[in-house]
Amino acid sequence: MPQLHFLILSFPAQGHINPAIQFAKRLVRTGSHVTFVTSVSAHRRMTNTVTLDGLTYTSFSDGYDDGFKPGDNLLHYMAEIKRHGSQALMDISVAATNEHRPVTFIVYNFLLPWVADLARDLQVPSSLLWIQPASVLNIYYYYFNGYGDFVDKNISNPSFSMELPGLPLLTSKDLPSFFLPTNPQPHTLSLFKELIVTLEKETKARVLVNSFEALEGEALRAIDKFNMVAIGPLIPSAFLDGKDPSDTSFGGDMSFFSSRDYYMEWLNQKPDASVVYVSFGTTSRLSKKQVREIAGGLLESRRPFLWVLRPAPEENDKEEGDVVENMEELKQEGMVIPWCSQVEVLCHRSIGCFVTHCGWNSTLEGLVAGVPMVTFPQWSDQATNAKLIRDVWQTGLRLEVNEAQLVEGDELKRSIEIVMEGGRGEQMRGNAKRWKDLAREAVMDGGSSDKNLNAFVDDVRLLDSPVCGVERILDSASAKT
Ligand code: UDX
Repeated sequence: MPQLHFLILSFPAQGHINPAIQFAKRLVRTGSHVTFVTSVSAHRRMTNTVTLDGLTYTSFSDGYDDGFKPGDNLLHYMAEIKRHGSQALMDISVAATNEHRPVTFIVYNFLLPWVADLARDLQVPSSLLWIQPASVLNIYYYYFNGYGDFVDKNISNPSFSMELPGLPLLTSKDLPSFFLPTNPQPHTLSLFKELIVTLEKETKARVLVNSFEALEGEALRAIDKFNMVAIGPLIPSAFLDGKDPSDTSFGGDMSFFSSRDYYMEWLNQKPDASVVYVSFGTTSRLSKKQVREIAGGLLESRRPFLWVLRPAPEENDKEEGDVVENMEELKQEGMVIPWCSQVEVLCHRSIGCFVTHCGWNSTLEGLVAGVPMVTFPQWSDQATNAKLIRDVWQTGLRLEVNEAQLVEGDELKRSIEIVMEGGRGEQMRGNAKRWKDLAREAVMDGGSSDKNLNAFVDDVRLLDSPVCGVERILDSASAKT
């Protein structure tokens, strides 16, 4: 049987790359070859990429080789990555055909919808890898299919709420931030519209979702026009199914920022479920005022904490003074580091609670680790993820902001206490343990995500030979010379 060749094109953000790499590793385990493609800037950051027989990395210049920076023009960037990425995809596909290993299938993540059109031109089948919850894709879908006017007209009304298929009752606080009148990037919604329109061009478009049946069963079936297939959670094997104990990291992260031994040794000395782990992902930047409130809340909670605090770029915060004034005191009570291997930390026996911004990867990692969460959503899908954590899966609570939109130290301290002590905390920990078990079941042999992944690969095997489109391009190129 000829080996399948998947080409995975990932948007160059950490939250997109991590699940895409994990998906690549799963495909390699089915005996397929995978070419993983992202931009030069992202590839440079990937210092500890996994070397695996069957996994090849390729990068292309998106015109921003030093990375996209705050203040850069997003629309210009999106146009550039499309222009350069399209050419790269064509070149890689042609080279693969020339090397007698034609690309059989293309997978792309959500800020790159143009890949679907290009794949169609190349006559290579493709699918979106959706790296947020199915529930969030539903919200975007229904917004662009009948609910948009209703949301736009009513979202500022304090009593606004909305019922959508497969979802809990949503208020404006629970919706993706791009719908809110305060959204500083109004054009972002057009990127989601482009994605939905692209998917609607296909009959029953297959969408691979980083989720699992038990977690989002109804949401996965809430759009008749799409075939949402849950293949997650996309988490390194060592922390999930244990099929590959050497698979301990995403293999594309920024771990060079911190020494792993340093913080793991510190965690090893702490009692079970005693440490508060705090991290707000890779894109959110908190104001200095907010950072100080968090510092105060952590100190007052009188529990050991491990806090990933990345330095904010100067242009984002004009406020005077150090980010935290009492760093020395903080370092006596806890540990403050710029980066850690998060999934490994979360799965350490000492972690008792996760204070999180609710990026979808962090949310899944928290569920897989069975750790209750204190949520502080910042933007994008994170408010919806926080809603699911608090009200649907019931493994955490959401921090309340004051009139100045700040979470006060006292609020953080109070919430950490609730989650880590008896009563409600005990219930949340019980629920967290249940989701941890269900996540494992989904990916074990014969589990729902395992079956879905194998069925997907079998389907790809049955597809017609994909070489014709690429050969057409080769023919027209040789006719010109
Ligand atoms: C972005 C969006 O912000 C998020 O809302 C969306 O769901 C995915 O894309 P990001 O903010 O980076 O993601 O958060 P998240 O989804 O949690 O991804 C961060 C990844 O980086 C996680 O896999 C996490 O384990 C990893 N990480 C982060 C580390 O390994 N170490 C760190 O110190 C911080």
